[in-house]
Amino acid sequence: MEKTGFLPTLIFLLLFSTFQAILSANSPNITTDQSALLALKSHIGHDPHNLLVTNWSTCTSVCNWIGVTCGSRHHRVTALDLSSMDLTGTIPSQLGNLSFLALLDISQNSFHGSLPTELIDLHRLKYLNFGNNSFSGEIPSWFGYFPTLQSLYLYGNNFTGVIPSTFGNLSKLETLSMYHNNLKGHLPSEIFDNLSKFQKL
Ligand SMILES: *[C@@H]1O[C@H](CO)[C@@H](O)[C@H](O)[C@H]1NC(C)=O
Ligand SMILES: *[C@@H]1O[C@H](CO)[C@@H](O)[C@H](O)[C@H]1NC(C)=O
Ligand SMILES: *[C@@H]1O[C@H](CO)[C@@H](O)[C@H](O)[C@H]1NC(C)=O
Ligand SMILES: *[C@@H]1O[C@H](CO)[C@@H](O)[C@H](O)[C@H]1NC(C)=O
Ligand SMILES: *[C@@H]1O[C@H](CO)[C@@H](O)[C@H](O)[C@H]1NC(C)=O
Ligand SMILES: *[C@@H]1O[C@H](CO)[C@@H](O)[C@H](O)[C@H]1NC(C)=O
Ligand SMILES: *[C@@H]1O[C@H](CO)[C@@H](O)[C@H](O)[C@H]1NC(C)=O
Repeated sequence: MEKTGFLPTLIFLLLFSTFQAILSANSPNITTDQSALLALKSHIGHDPHNLLVTNWSTCTSVCNWIGVTCGSRHHRVTALDLSSMDLTGTIPSQLGNLSFLALLDISQNSFHGSLPTELIDLHRLKYLNFGNNSFSGEIPSWFGYFPTLQSLYLYGNNFTGVIPSTFGNLSKLETLSMYHNNLKGHLPSEIFDNLSKFQKL
């Protein structure tokens, strides 16, 4: 009796622990967030006040880094606020790995170039501020795929083109700020048909 029950249990335990190991090997953790932020640091060409150079050190946890906030429950980066630090640089695709990010504010700096598509993976974003930088290119249509986005600030950049129709999907959007760009055409009013929470443009 004991023998017949032992083998299946052993097999089950083996399978279970293998499965768990595979799962945890592939799931992102705070180390993923650290590599994403180090990638961002390496894309910053000019940091006149040496804010990140000394402070963003691998000797301490990313949760102690300036501008970084971690959540208590999952121990992942939930907010990144680098506003008004006089930074010059570009945004690396790795930033899309900060999968618990709810707030991203890099306003009042000199970030330039275009925004990497990988940022679409930041599906927990509620507040996004790219204001007063030098980003260029068309406003990405994937901005429309942030299901919980409440505030989007793109003012004071060099974005061109039209506001993509996907913005009509931003059902939680309350504030949209786009002034001082090189946008063309009129604002399609039907974009706002579904935005019941919308308050300010
Ligand atoms: C994060 O995951 C990697 C494997 O993807 C693992 O080697 C590392 O120990 C984990 N780090 C923490 C802090 O759990
Ligand atoms: C980095 O800055 C934070 C916030 O100002 C501070 O609490 C922390 O001690 C600094 N860490 C280092 C290594 O300078
Ligand atoms: C992070 O993002 C980059 C580029 O988007 C990717 O190559 C990498 O595998 C991602 N994952 C981790 C754990 O860094
Ligand atoms: C954006 O930058 C301009 C010029 O540097 C400044 O006058 C303006 O107040 C800034 N906007 C905000 C919202 O801080
Ligand atoms: C936008 O681009 C023009 C010409 O390329 C440049 O003169 C201007 O300074 C740029 N504005 C911003 C806010 O980067
Ligand atoms: C977003 O909007 C576009 C165009 O308005 C539509 O084709 C698409 O199905 C929508 N996607 C989602 C996920 O709602
Ligand atoms: C508004 O929502 C309806 C129903 O979900 C959808 O069919 C329509 O395409 C949406 N309109 C826009 C402009 O996104």
